[in-house]
Amino acid sequence: MADKKTFYITTPIYYPSGSMHIGHTYTTVAADTMTRFKKMTGYDTYFLTGTDEHGQKIERKAADAGLDPKSYIDPIVAETKALWEMMEIEYDDFIRTTDERHVQVVQKIFKQFYDQGDIYKSEYEGQYCADCEAFWTPTQLKEGNACPDCGRPTELVREESYFFKMSKYQDWLIEYIQNNPEFIQPVSRANEMLHNFLRPGLQDLCVSRTSFKWGVQVDFDPRHVVYVWIDALSNYITALGYGTQDDSLMRRYWPADVQLVGKEIVRFHTIYWPIMLHALGLPLPKQVFAHGWLLFGNDKMSKSKGNVAYPQPIVQRYGADPLRYYLMREMPFGSDGNYTNEALINRINADLVNDLGNLVSRTSAMIIKYFDGALPQDGKVEAVDEKLRELVLQLPSEVEKQMDQLQFSQALVEVWRVISECNKYIDVTQPWVLGKDEAMKERLGTVLYTLAESLRFVAVILWPFMPATPERIYEQIGVAQQEQKTWDSLKHFGMLKAGTKIQRKEALFPRLDVQAELEALAGDTSPAEASVKQETEPEKVQDSMITIDDFDKLTLRAARVVACENVPKSDKLLKLTLSLGNEQRTVLSGIAQHYKPEDIVGKQVVLLANLAPRKMRGVLSEGMVLCAATQDDSQLKLLTVDGDMADGAYIS
Ligand code: ME8
Repeated sequence: MADKKTFYITTPIYYPSGSMHIGHTYTTVAADTMTRFKKMTGYDTYFLTGTDEHGQKIERKAADAGLDPKSYIDPIVAETKALWEMMEIEYDDFIRTTDERHVQVVQKIFKQFYDQGDIYKSEYEGQYCADCEAFWTPTQLKEGNACPDCGRPTELVREESYFFKMSKYQDWLIEYIQNNPEFIQPVSRANEMLHNFLRPGLQDLCVSRTSFKWGVQVDFDPRHVVYVWIDALSNYITALGYGTQDDSLMRRYWPADVQLVGKEIVRFHTIYWPIMLHALGLPLPKQVFAHGWLLFGNDKMSKSKGNVAYPQPIVQRYGADPLRYYLMREMPFGSDGNYTNEALINRINADLVNDLGNLVSRTSAMIIKYFDGALPQDGKVEAVDEKLRELVLQLPSEVEKQMDQLQFSQALVEVWRVISECNKYIDVTQPWVLGKDEAMKERLGTVLYTLAESLRFVAVILWPFMPATPERIYEQIGVAQQEQKTWDSLKHFGMLKAGTKIQRKEALFPRLDVQAELEALAGDTSPAEASVKQETEPEKVQDSMITIDDFDKLTLRAARVVACENVPKSDKLLKLTLSLGNEQRTVLSGIAQHYKPEDIVGKQVVLLANLAPRKMRGVLSEGMVLCAATQDDSQLKLLTVDGDMADGAYIS
């Protein structure tokens, strides 16, 4: 495979400070779609994603939850991997910045910078935004020392630090960006970097911290941890084995072809990252592409603001392909766009149910009706057939042109142009009229063959976007061989074999009732809420033994339900106000399908009182009430105390 052209693509590594939402899914789906497209068109591809696990933000989040950082992030990382699997994301590697392979190389890189004089020790004093993990100068700050990126308050940091001499590389970088217009895309972002940061002059960057511990330790000065962005950016090469004995992946795939980032982190990827690479004597990625934001009610979706949509309920209802399609189709890559459930449902109905789904079912139904389910012969081609075939034959190159520019939505527009022409072709050729006349049988065969073969092109091209859909189309149009499913097979119109049996299947995408779906999605659970449900369920199978010391870690108390109400837009959760005698707690519990609020007021229940508090649906839940439940969850009862006890009594 040495002669294959390579293609290396990366996503940002995400902070596991909370569950990944549709915004993270957007970038990851784009990277997966691009990888699949390149793979299909003959490239040797490598797709890297992962999690950015160090830094003050994560350290604080974990502390708030009463956990050490690793115990806090491990379940979130597991959930992230499960989400990518659910979204049909096929990455080649998932790097965690806590991986030993990464930590060791970051230490080595830091030492090299120090040894070659790029890093020096001094004292830092300035404002820091822990949410963006970014330092800001007084002129950059917004009113009241607010972070110019996220608007949250920054804090004063004063500590001994190592500094990276960014200023030394400034002129080189300006020249590089000017000479390589492809490097930063869209071009407007390059101008922004030059104008806002590079030309005004780069400040040396503070690259170590001493005021917290959760990071990669500077091995030659252990009071310091490496600044989280230096740590995080290095992932793109540590994952390839840079600086280790086996750097074969590095030699094979570096420089990256495309690094995808959201527009808020372009600065880190087009200023700090190139300078780091240059200082290491490495070539720069060929392109950093900054895509736009998915907005939620005109505001950027964000884990910490809590204004987010999560993919899981959507995928559970419609499957991954419709969501992948929507994300890639709805807004041009590079621009912002609003996410709404309504737009998603409307797009599924219009594009997938009406345009594509109907075309496939009409075509297969007519082949079954008129040709007994065997694909007809292609006969004499008329002008109207020729016109459609030409358009179809041009589709691969039109799509490739758009994909080379990462214009996913335009590529899909090209595909839908063909779908729409196929639908018009049916209206013009009127196969149901031809079907009534035995003398027109050959003509009818040509029309249906033209449709089936056009759909073969559409299905092959859709695979990178909707990986599960092509096979479902193939069964209905008579694609039976692997070589009819390849990109190369799209050089010829006429690969389908007459006589191939086709099957009638259910509709590709069921039509959605907009109102009913909106209600269902509004009431669905977020991943955090879903995990509460698990917490309220007894362990299904629990074989491992614990000691009495383990049991002693639990603080169980008798708690009186003094008030209870439904949680808006959730059909699973109840909000309980509990009295522990001299203290009240609010607890959310996933029992709404088994209890009405009025049924439980007055009961004395069992509370796990030292469970780390957790925010759900905007409410802080401070503990968990215990229940007994059957494995299928059909029966569930709250645990209560036998007879009256003082509220707050300890249970052992
Ligand atoms: O910034 N719209 O991690 P992060 C579109 N760890 N994309 C979005 C989005 C939205 N509303 N929200 C998130 C970090 N994203 C650092 C990166 S890289 C060396 C370190 C996507 O968890 C988008 O790709 O805040 C954005 O850049 C990224 O998630 C930020 O994820």
